Amino acid sequence: MDFSDMGAMWRYVYETDTFEEEVAELWETVRPLYEQLHAYVRRKLREKYGVDKVSADGPIPAHLLDFSDMGAMWRYVYETDTFEEEVAELWETVRPLYEQLHAYVRRKLREKYGVDKVSADGPIPAHLLGDMWAQDWSNVKDLFLPCKNKPSLDIAPALRKQNYTAERMFRVSEEFFTSMGLSPMPEKFWNLSIIEKPKDRAIICHASAWDFCDSKDFRIKQCTDMTMEDFVTVHHEMGHVEYYIQYKDQHIAFRDGANPGFHEAVGDVISLSVVTPKHMVKIGLLPESAGKKDSEVDLNYLMSQALSKVAFLPFGYLIDVWRWNVFRGKISSSHYNCEWWKLRSEVQGVQPPNIRSEEDFDPGAKYHIPANVPYMSYFVSFIIQFQFHRALCTAAGEYDPKNPLAKPLHDCDIYRSKKAGNLFKEMLRLGSSKPWPDVMAVITEGNRRMDASALREYFQPLENWLRKDNKKHGAAMEGIARHKNLMREPRDEVEKETARAPSSSSHSQ
Ligand SMILES: *[C@@H]1O[C@H](CO)[C@@H](O)[C@H](O)[C@H]1NC(C)=O
Ligand SMILES: [Zn+2]
Repeated sequence: MDFSDMGAMWRYVYETDTFEEEVAELWETVRPLYEQLHAYVRRKLREKYGVDKVSADGPIPAHLLDFSDMGAMWRYVYETDTFEEEVAELWETVRPLYEQLHAYVRRKLREKYGVDKVSADGPIPAHLLGDMWAQDWSNVKDLFLPCKNKPSLDIAPALRKQNYTAERMFRVSEEFFTSMGLSPMPEKFWNLSIIEKPKDRAIICHASAWDFCDSKDFRIKQCTDMTMEDFVTVHHEMGHVEYYIQYKDQHIAFRDGANPGFHEAVGDVISLSVVTPKHMVKIGLLPESAGKKDSEVDLNYLMSQALSKVAFLPFGYLIDVWRWNVFRGKISSSHYNCEWWKLRSEVQGVQPPNIRSEEDFDPGAKYHIPANVPYMSYFVSFIIQFQFHRALCTAAGEYDPKNPLAKPLHDCDIYRSKKAGNLFKEMLRLGSSKPWPDVMAVITEGNRRMDASALREYFQPLENWLRKDNKKHGAAMEGIARHKNLMREPRDEVEKETARAPSSSSHSQ
């Protein structure tokens, strides 16, 4: 009355005594197809890894068909074997700008908090930078604006005065997209999105955009506040939805960003125009006076942009440098926190508020680490969004590569430019149907590489000013890599641990 074994139990639900024979026959009918695929893949692997590694007619070594670790899997979507080297190089090309910003901010914090709290040439205490992770310093930007006597560029007072609602923010954002000839949000989007915090229930308020994959249903969920930061986030999320809409007619397998960095960049590209003082004047959120050409207002504006866009770069870079090395076993579990703070101080130039040890696990405070979400896409986005901005601004006639002083990149606004819109559309509608360098080449006049020159150019006036100001104040510029030993040595801890174990077990004998 019982099954002879568990296999018999598993086969029972197929309601036939000959299930084993039937699946064996099925396998025989598909085997010729599999054999063709196998031979093809074997030949390709033989070409890639060499005739000594893969035989011409035997089994394929299984490890060649697998990722060596999770980091390799995450890097795979970037379609190049040298992704690690490429992002390292990108970081090196933006580092000189970051070091200037870092030295300036460190001096300002030293003036405010005292020379005993902030060193003249070491890392900055991370908790002084206005953000849990020291990844975005714009919350404390008032400390750092170069020209204090100039009007604030904050739009929050105007939003309040004009009784802005979440819906109005979303409509204003949508109007930017449609002004360029891009798609409006469909009726269903307006019916079903959540754009205000519900009063009757708790929800996860972290803003997100959703593609329901039926080519019709796209939504945003955001608990919108009437602030400048949220106004920018509205555009960021709507950028995701615009991308979903543009590639909705692709095969489902290609309804994705050309690479993950592209998806994060779409709305940010729009925001680079939206937040310019001259655009804010156009939509009535800043007074006319803020739109006049004034190099001091420009400097303040570029500083506030740098405190978000440049301050983020080393942080965006180091999260996955740390994780890739964890995944490949180069950072062992007994050194997690030590290696974390080594990168934080050497790359980002920040130090923890107090002494840390391996009993702490500070990486775990960043959402993406316990949630296992790759992070390099944000670093990539922060680089390529300036490439896209430069390309679209050129198309819009808002930037002149031959005369950037007359029409600088940071002052460009692609609002109402159908030319820029058509170009953007051409790129977005490809989804992931082509290798990302091909997709990038559509708008960057053939440039197929991630390239930080547009970012450097955008911030050039600020960088020039920072260099002068840092020099004037004799700021230590030998780099931010002066690593203070703020960790208790992890090795001692571990050795004590292992030394204790046998002795305690011998006691219990
Ligand atoms: C949106 O909501 C309106 C009003 O409830 C309704 O008439 C309309 O059919 C809805 N549209 C879609 C596409 O769901
Ligand atoms: Zn996003």
